[in-house]
Amino acid sequence: MRVGNPYLLRELLAALRADGVDIERADADRVRELGPASVSAAVLRRLGPDAGRLARAVALLGSATPLRHAAALAELDPAMDRAQAEAAVEVLIAQGSEAGGHGGWVSTMVVVAQVVDVAGAVPVLAAGGIADGRGLAAALALGAQGVSMGTRFLASTEASVHRDRKQRILAADALDAVKVVDGNALLPPYSRPGVRTEGRARRTPLIDLLREHPKQVDPAVAGPELLAAIRRGRGDEYLPFAGQSVELIHELLPAAEIVRRVVEEAEAALADAAVHVK
Ligand SMILES: Cc1cc2nc3c(=O)[nH]c(=O)nc-3n(C[C@H](O)[C@H](O)[C@H](O)COP(=O)(O)O)c2cc1C
Repeated sequence: MRVGNPYLLRELLAALRADGVDIERADADRVRELGPASVSAAVLRRLGPDAGRLARAVALLGSATPLRHAAALAELDPAMDRAQAEAAVEVLIAQGSEAGGHGGWVSTMVVVAQVVDVAGAVPVLAAGGIADGRGLAAALALGAQGVSMGTRFLASTEASVHRDRKQRILAADALDAVKVVDGNALLPPYSRPGVRTEGRARRTPLIDLLREHPKQVDPAVAGPELLAAIRRGRGDEYLPFAGQSVELIHELLPAAEIVRRVVEEAEAALADAAVHVK
């Protein structure tokens, strides 16, 4: 069993488990095979004791959680003191509420500054709403060392999502990417106790129904329907996670070209901004 999509919904994980698939081991094997520089907190949790040896990037979802909580998020030892947490966590991702997928309620502009203030020696990556070099330039100005982009790469040549989903991202504007109200009616809650998160996705009839007439959505019917659609590769018709940066995405590009342009644009944006400094 190979897990190619790092963003599997819990429903799918539960179904795979029910089919007898050892998802934790499959995830760990896949991470070992790919050897990424980092994996997300959600994946880290499933990697269990292996996590520390494989990768240690930690996603902070929408609040300036102290480093100790960040370590707990990654299911490193929550009893760590600050020095131990700084030694264990290689990078913090401060993700604002503009982001696609699950996240909190504080905007990127605020949360990045907050996290930079508590991060100490740990580098911070800004996430949420960043799709071009202006976003990278802004992140650097806020004190981050770089950015982590999700939605932008959905509209890349390499992204393993349906071509219709890529086209819809190119056509969408920022207000099409909404917080999924009552998403927990269909998905088990992603949030850890005391941290409420909600997914952001491009609007679909299901998302509108959840917001406007939640009582009309029967989880016993809609849940399996969603799962079946995901398995057909058409989950996009129901819950296509995407962030507000869809507004800024106009071209389907290879991932390397996206990165090249973001860096080039950031350099230009920083040079332009410097004329305002005496
Ligand atoms: C389709 C999609 C699925 C995502 N799933 C996860 C996930 O499973 N775990 C996680 O930590 N972050 C997840 N994210 C969040 C991204 O890792 C990243 O922080 C976010 O996309 C950055 O904001 P942006 O979408 O505005 O670029 C997801 C994002 C998208 C767009």
